[in-house]
Amino acid sequence: AGSFDDECDYLFKTVLIGDSAVGKSNLLSRYARDEFHLDSKPTIGVEFAYRNIKVGDKLIKAQIWDTAGQERFRAITSSYYRGALGAMLVYDITRRATFENLKKWLYEVRQFGSPDMVVVLVGNKSDLAQSRQINVEDGQSLAQLEGLCFMETSARENVNVEEAFREMITKIH
Ligand code: GTP
Ligand code: MG
Repeated sequence: AGSFDDECDYLFKTVLIGDSAVGKSNLLSRYARDEFHLDSKPTIGVEFAYRNIKVGDKLIKAQIWDTAGQERFRAITSSYYRGALGAMLVYDITRRATFENLKKWLYEVRQFGSPDMVVVLVGNKSDLAQSRQINVEDGQSLAQLEGLCFMETSARENVNVEEAFREMITKIH
């Protein structure tokens, strides 16, 4: 029998974007390795993880790229987006500034991403409901306005993480 790679039908590149400390790296580690780190360091440069997923009768290898939200630590933007079929745009429901900066991220997505890239908007840290600054409805209406899928997640409590990545990957074709 061949390895999973030989049997894989597609390789999909996807990218994580959004301000620093919104939880991009923890969403990825939760999805790829079922790990969460309370004291994770800011990402420097670019990291990758893979996860194989079955969609219908097809086996898809999702290659997920993760870079720094902080400008000075970021990977070269054009190469980061090159070939990406999906993007997860993340904000932190407890920090309004990360929601307001979505305009800037969407501008970048449209500038560097391919026009048919699937974008999923994710409001992370739903476990911190007591510190919420952005209502679910605000996320929903922005997503509707911009034509994006939307979900709130908690990387910490593993809520909707699987669903958000699956949504992004299954919408790609
Ligand atoms: P950069 O790499 O700097 O762009 O940041 P990032 O978006 O990758 O954020 P990271 O995953 O490193 O998480 C930042 C902080 O938020 C860490 O202290 C995490 O433990 C915390 N965090 C991430 N996701 C959640 C979550 O769902 N709930 C809570 N309560 N904390 C979270
Ligand atoms: Mg990171």
